[in-house]
Amino acid sequence: MDSLLKSLIDRLEEKHTLSPDEYAFLIRNRSAEAMEYITPKAQRIRRQYYGNSVYVRGLIEFTNLCRNNCLYCGIRRSNSSCSRYRLTKEQILECCDTGYDLGFRTYVLQGGEDAFFDDTYLCEIVSAIKTRYPDCAVTLSAGERSRDSYRRLFDAGADRYLLRHETADRHHYEKLHPAEMSFDNRMRCLYDLKEIGYQTGCGFMVGSPYQTPETLASDLAFIDRFSPDMCGIGPFIPHRDTPFKDCSAGTLEETLWLLSIIRLMLPHVLLPATTALGTIHPLGREKGILAGANVVMPNLSPVSVRKKYELYDNKICTGDEAAECRNCLTRRMEAIGYRIVTDRGDVNRKQSSLNGKCEAAL
Ligand code: 5AD
Ligand code: FES
Repeated sequence: MDSLLKSLIDRLEEKHTLSPDEYAFLIRNRSAEAMEYITPKAQRIRRQYYGNSVYVRGLIEFTNLCRNNCLYCGIRRSNSSCSRYRLTKEQILECCDTGYDLGFRTYVLQGGEDAFFDDTYLCEIVSAIKTRYPDCAVTLSAGERSRDSYRRLFDAGADRYLLRHETADRHHYEKLHPAEMSFDNRMRCLYDLKEIGYQTGCGFMVGSPYQTPETLASDLAFIDRFSPDMCGIGPFIPHRDTPFKDCSAGTLEETLWLLSIIRLMLPHVLLPATTALGTIHPLGREKGILAGANVVMPNLSPVSVRKKYELYDNKICTGDEAAECRNCLTRRMEAIGYRIVTDRGDVNRKQSSLNGKCEAAL
């Protein structure tokens, strides 16, 4: 293997940071051999911080109405073939009830940017969940909102917020989004969320149209600077009703490579093996965990709406009941030597000595 590549991986493992040019070098020089070199390092760090635990998040897709028109996304407002739905507060709470019995202690409320869920209603939903389940964390993934709105939702009890930055390169951002959307506002949102005190997650799609090693290097440099608590990365997958329908999907290999790099960069980060990764390869999520991820997010949405929350084609698990997904993932994780835990699964910014000791036994 190229000795410069090897020394960069060693330095990333030791110092957890590289320059943007060095990140670009890593991205350009991925090889099977380099993957073999980085994977055990990423696994080792992941085990030091999180042992063999895999955190589960119950995903509740509460609305597929969206005011935005992102070019890659199947629920964009101009997709007239998309059949629209919103869950009521009662339906959302029912999903939480099902989830609690299945051992979920984090609920992720994800939806399009739907004005029906104004601050008053969304705060009401968050506080109803927190009142019923004070031992659970609530993560919101509800897009761009005002600082005041983020503050009110935080005060209502929301613990975490996921807002993928999508790309840290302004020009690339403009190619993925219509002119009415703004890169600066996206960044403003992320910094507001962090300042308010949320455990904050950013992230991007691997292999999105117009992505280059340079734009990916700026993603890594941004993640390095921003130091998120969570980072969602998964392959881009085209959706038939979007302007990007003929673009090719991101690859398994590149996604795994980036997961391992991010694990070395941010040892503590909560890193999901995403549904999109499970969609492009039957063992995608298992491979994601083995590359350094430590979170899976099975679906808790009612089966009747699952197919309608279709960000990309052929999304997996759209016909399975929550319990089936939960059991399926338990088996999948056990098959690779990991175990799903019933735990809020907060970020661990300090290395646990217990996990350090466990490592020898693993
Ligand atoms: N392929 C993969 N991921 C997608 N997302 C949206 N559309 C697609 C697609 N076609 C991701 C975006 C968004 C998250 C909720 O889903 O990164 O932030
Ligand atoms: Fe949903 Fe396997 S995780 S069926």
